[in-house]
This record gives sequence, structure tokens and C-alpha cells, in this order.
Amino acid sequence: MQFGHFDDEAREYVIETPHTPYPWINYLGSQEFFGLVSHTGGGYCFYRDAKLRRLTRYRYNNIPVDDGGRYFSINDGGDVWSPSYRPYKTELDFFETRHGMGYTRITGERGGVRASVLLFVPVGINAEVHQVTLTNTSDAAKQFSLFSFLEFNLWNAEDDQTNYQRNLSIGEVEVVDGAIYHKTEYRERRNHYAVYGVNAPVAGFDTDRDTYLGFGNGFHEAAVPHAGKAGNSVASGWYPIASHQLDVALEPGESKQFTFVLGYLENDADDKWESPGVIKKDGARELLARFADNASTDAEFAKLNEYWDNLLGSYTVESGDNELNRMVNIWNQYQCMVTYNMSRSASFFETGMGRGMGFRDSSQDLLGFVHLVPERARERIIDIASTQFEDGSAYHQYQPLTKRGNHTLGSGFNDDPLWLILGVAAYVKETGDFAILDEMVPFDNDESKAATLMEHLRRSFNHPLEKAGPHGLPLIGRADWNDCLNLNCFSTEPGESFQTTGNKTGGVAESVLIAGMFCAIGPEYAALARRRGDEAEAQRAEKAIEDMRAAVANHGWDGEWFRRAYDYYGNVVGGAENEDGQIWIEPQGYCVMGGVGLEDGKAVKALDSVRERLNTPHGIVLLNPAYTEYHVELGEVTSYPPGYKENAGIFCHNNPWVIIAETMVGRAEYAWEYYKQITPAYREEISEVHRLEPYVYAQMIAGKDASRHGEAKNSWLTGTASWNFVAVSQYLLGVRPDYDGLIVDPCIGAEVGEYTVTRQVRGATYKVTVTATGTKGARLTVDGKEIEGNTVPYAPAGSVVEVVASV
Ligand code: BGC
Ligand code: NOJ
Repeated sequence: MQFGHFDDEAREYVIETPHTPYPWINYLGSQEFFGLVSHTGGGYCFYRDAKLRRLTRYRYNNIPVDDGGRYFSINDGGDVWSPSYRPYKTELDFFETRHGMGYTRITGERGGVRASVLLFVPVGINAEVHQVTLTNTSDAAKQFSLFSFLEFNLWNAEDDQTNYQRNLSIGEVEVVDGAIYHKTEYRERRNHYAVYGVNAPVAGFDTDRDTYLGFGNGFHEAAVPHAGKAGNSVASGWYPIASHQLDVALEPGESKQFTFVLGYLENDADDKWESPGVIKKDGARELLARFADNASTDAEFAKLNEYWDNLLGSYTVESGDNELNRMVNIWNQYQCMVTYNMSRSASFFETGMGRGMGFRDSSQDLLGFVHLVPERARERIIDIASTQFEDGSAYHQYQPLTKRGNHTLGSGFNDDPLWLILGVAAYVKETGDFAILDEMVPFDNDESKAATLMEHLRRSFNHPLEKAGPHGLPLIGRADWNDCLNLNCFSTEPGESFQTTGNKTGGVAESVLIAGMFCAIGPEYAALARRRGDEAEAQRAEKAIEDMRAAVANHGWDGEWFRRAYDYYGNVVGGAENEDGQIWIEPQGYCVMGGVGLEDGKAVKALDSVRERLNTPHGIVLLNPAYTEYHVELGEVTSYPPGYKENAGIFCHNNPWVIIAETMVGRAEYAWEYYKQITPAYREEISEVHRLEPYVYAQMIAGKDASRHGEAKNSWLTGTASWNFVAVSQYLLGVRPDYDGLIVDPCIGAEVGEYTVTRQVRGATYKVTVTATGTKGARLTVDGKEIEGNTVPYAPAGSVVEVVASV
């Protein structure tokens, strides 16, 4: 069952009903100001940090679900409704929400009035624009009132939900010329404020929530829109909001447009007052003036579309498979940009108050956006590497505002260091910017401890070697990629963090996954060293990688698949001898990616075991059999009910590792099947089962042990986005940048037929035409001449290179 459809031409997903199984959301913003908006108008916005600079309030866990956002209400002769359907839930004659690239357009019609609200954040402007178009679709003249509404958050989102004894006395606003200014805490230590204005004369306004709603009322009972008359209230403490009343008259067929602007502005600390107690408003006035006429709003919207045209031009595919085209060309890349901007902070599953930027998450996210915004990838790399410690380990997280490591969580996640190598390698391959390796980068943000980025990578590479256990495999520490495999934590108290509790220092718990990562990512370090002329270091690295492959083959192989780990007592985790959790997905994918067992059949055997024991029609589960009891020596993974999250859920992040591994052993059809299973556009028709947005990946789909098998959770902010883009663009479609040229090595299901990838890299354009045959090993013709191997040498900037791949 579907609740909408893709409009590929417009790069939009069109939701045709308010009654989706869950709020289906979109993101606004590309640089510093961001908003989340659901298809029924719910959500909130913030400047840079979803916790510390939140402009509007949102209540997670609320009922009715997703109530609260930017609402436009119409009172048409006593009939009160909203184009977003919520909050009133008044039935509409027409409803449609179009989520596009950085914008959302919500349209509702009732009783001969059509109202369309376009929400976007203009490029380079710290504001949300709400352009409202009202049309009289009836054959009689219409007169009605339009009310805007949003509720201010008292800036720090966590404080806003906890500190009522203070907060209910501090709210302050100003209203000048119909513009509403939110200035809570501005009188003391804040030098920033918000403004919500509109480019038309207002018939009234409200800034006090109790006046607008009526005390005790929900949003749907809002007193002012029902009365059809604003209260002109000025908030003093309690709950500041912003609402404008516009009285509108429309002839039959006539349309009128209004632009509302919600802006974030800062002043200098010593120049912030216009007169005592009155905000200096130059910035706000300038902002509102920019949107004084609707044509400038249209121009800003056109700029946003151009911004996305440019971004999405560097990798495109044309094939006969619409789902493939729309995922690769539009939605997967879009989601990669959103994860770049948000990391794991603000979604409808992440409150924006919890996690900062993860070292491992941000390093992996790089893989999905490095081709879109290479300069910003460079900056991100330096930020991440600056939070590394001198011994190669790293703060597990850092804060986006300060870019400093998070002390509460600290370090000790022993997979972290290697991901940095992977991210940097992807950047260098994309750009050819080897100079980044000479950049001086601090350790622990301490400039006095700076060393070159290459030196950071050396320490990353050495870390798993220096922290190796009795089988020569890397020690796991608090956890590896799987945050829930906590072999040193032994947590018994409810509520304590599984990751940071205890952390015994037995020095025995080892991770086969980190070993596999070392074998797969280590060669990138060797390649970089070699290209810098350090042959001795390259050879040292290659020797260490060979030794690690041997350690995996000797101690990480269980007979039919790769083991997962050795626990605190040195017992096998992920072996036939275990009752539950006999086989785990991560080492099957990564050890094959690391080249273990490619020659002696282990790789294929491991992948066959995945197919037999872990695969389902909804994706590959993380482990099997699911744990049914809590194991203190294994940690959080066993805390989840069977089939959910890391305990045998379909964790979409590491499905692409198996996809890539399958392409490495040449099994195109399996790789392709696994891709389609979890890719949202192919799941659109089962939206009632999947329940979340059919245009973006979710972190998890409930596994076969769960009663809700096939149901997704945690959409948007997940490493699934970047890894699936890597899998489909680089391994299935088979076009990936390397250090000296563009590798063309397709391995995709025969049903895809003929396709063309257009790839822009280092200033040149490559048009790669492939006929999919369900096999690997295509021969290449470059500009009409057959070449040896599968690397197309980089051409000078400006060139257009024609590549034909045939089997
Ligand atoms: C989740 C993991 C997540 C971790 C973050 C756990 O509860 O299951 O997916 O990485 O929290 O701390
Ligand atoms: C989500 C976390 O953000 C990520 O860092 C981790 O690897 C996965 N969960 C798996 O536990």
C-alpha cells in the first residue's frame, strides 16, 4: 500500500494523505540554520545546535503524536481549518505534501479556499521562510482570516523541558510593526534573538500562548483562530509564542501570497540595545526587507533549487529502473547531505539533545558526501582528527558548537581510529588533495600537540596493533562499530550507560570486526604512505595487514563463517558452540572486504552462511539466533527484545558491507537482491508494513524474530545512507574514484540492463555506459580504445571521457 508517489522530475516525494503510518518528515537548511518538518506541519528549527540554540518548541513523546509546529489556520466564516490538516484535523477537499530538496510544500483546500505553504531555508540566510499562497477556487468572493502560529523554545532545549521554576518567569518578547521578537535571556548573557515577521499589514497578533490557545486547550482548540480575532497579547513569562492575523479578501480565481520569515540574529555583546531594554534590530529589519516582496522569495527559492542542481550533478545514473534512478540521483545523496549536516542529532527519533558528532559516525558519513562538498569534507576531516588522542584513540564524540571532545563519554571505542583513515582516503581519492596529509592537526584540540594529518593516520593504523589481544586480534575496548557489544562493561544497574560502565581491563576481549576493518582499511594507509614516497612504511603496513589476515583466518574463522569476538573470559562470541548469537553479520561483510578468505573459499562460505542464516525478504538481520536473555558479559546487544536493533534487527548500516563483499566475490545477483531488499523506494508498495518514509533509509527494520518483522524505525540519521550510496554507486554500478584514476568495475543484477553513469571528478566528466549481465569483470573501452585493467586514468579538468564497459 502506498500513501504517495515519487515525482522524479521535481525531485519530490508527494504525500497524498495526512494519514500516513507515521509522520513523514523532511529537512530544511544547508549551512547553519535547520528545520525539521513533517507532512502535517509538525517539527521545529534551530541554529547550528539542536540542543543549545533551538528556536521553536517540539514535544517528543507527545499525544496526539506530532502536534506542534508552524501552523497556519484559516477561519472562513467560522469554519476553522489548516492546510496541513493538523492540528484541527478538519477534513480537507484536497491535501498534498511535497517534500523536496531542502523544502516542503504543504497544500490543503476546503470550502473553495486553497492554501499552500512553502517552507524553506534560503541558501546562506539564517531563517526559515514560509510562503503562503491563498487561492479562491470558488465562484464567489471570499473574505477570511489567516493566522500564523509557532511556539518559541527558550533556546536550550533540555533546559526548556526541565527547568520550569525559572523558565516560566523569564519569557520576553517585543512586537514592532507587526514583527514579533523573541528575546528571552537577551537581557543577560544571550546576544541573539529571533524574529517572526510577515510582508503585509497585520490585523492583529499574539505572543502569549494562553491567550492564543485559551488556558487548558490543545492546539486544535486554539481560541484565537476559532474566535477569528487576535488578542494582541504581549507575553510576560510563561509561554511566548508568535501569531499574526491577516484578513484576506479574494475574488473568484484570485490568489494572494504572503511571505512569513522566522529569523535567527546575533548582535555584538557591547552593542545590542537600541535603547534601554529594546533589542537593536538592524539585522532583523534587513532580513525582513529582503523578503518584502514575494518576487524575492521566489528568487531565493530558485537559488535553493540551483544549489541542489549543482550538488546532485556529480554522480548520476540513467537506467530503465526508476527506483534505482531516483535513489541514486536524488534521495540517497540527499540523505547523505542531511546526515552530514545533522550527524545523529535531530530527527523524529533523535531529540537533538543527546549525541554530538560521533567520531566513527562522522568519519563514515564522509564517504557519502565527499563528492558533493569536498571543501566541507576537508574541514570536517580536520575537525574530527583534532579530537584524536596522541595514542591514536579518540573522543567518541565531539560537540558541534565547540568542536571539542565529549569528556562524559571519553574514548575507548577501539574501532574509532580506523574510520578516520577510511574517510581521509575517500577524500584524497576524490580530490587528489594529498596536501591535506601535511596539514598540522592538534591532538585533543591542543595546538601545542599538533602533528601532520599523516601522523594522525599512522597512529590510527598502529592503535589496533598496539592494543592487540592473545589471538593477535584487536582488543574491543568499550565497544566496536556495534555500540551494543559491550564485552568489558558488565552492567547490572538499570539506567547506567552500557558503554561506559565498568570497562574492566582484562585485556582479553577481542573484536574480529576490528580485525576485518584493519585488513580492509589498512591498505588505504599503505597506499597513502607509498604515494608519499615512504615505501618502508608502506611495506611495514602491508606486512601487518598480512599478519592480521592470518590471525583472522586462524582465530576468527569458525568453520562456516567468521566469529564475532572473544569475550572477557576468552570465550568465543559468534560461533557454532554458542547457544544464541552464533553468527553475526559484521565480520562476514568486513572480513571479506578485508580480503580474508578470497582465495581459499572462506569468503564465499561466509557469505553463503549469511544467506542461509541471516537473510530475510526485508533485509539481512544482524545476528542469529536472537538473544532471548540478558547476558551481562555481552552487554546492551542482549538487552533488546529479539528482532529489534542490534539484537537481530535488520541493521541497514551493515547490509551494504555484505553487498560489497558479494561484489568482491562476483555474485552480482545476490548483491543486487540485498540492495533492493532494504532500499526504501523498492519498499514503497509495502509502506503499511515499513511505516516510515519510502524516500530515505531507516537505521533498522525489525528482524524475523520480531512480531513486527519488516517495520522500520529510526529513519534519516544513520550511516546506512552513506554506506548504501557507496555500495550502489561504487560497487553495484561500479564507478569509484581511486588515487590515480576512476575505477569502472560494475557488478549488478542483469535485470538492470543498459545504464549510463555520469561522474564528475577532479573537474572532468566521465560518461560510463554499461550493459548489466549479472557478472563481473567487464572490459573497458575509453574514448574508443580498449584498455588493460579497470582503471580509467584521470583526464585533465574540463575533459569529457566516454567509457564503455562490456563483458
Ligand atoms: C543503540 C545504538 C547506538 C547507541 C548510541 C544504543 O542504545 O542501540 O544503535 O549506537 O545506543 O549510544
Ligand atoms: C548507531 C550509532 O550511531 C553507530 O555509531 C553505531 O555504529 C551503530 N548504532 C551500531 O551500534
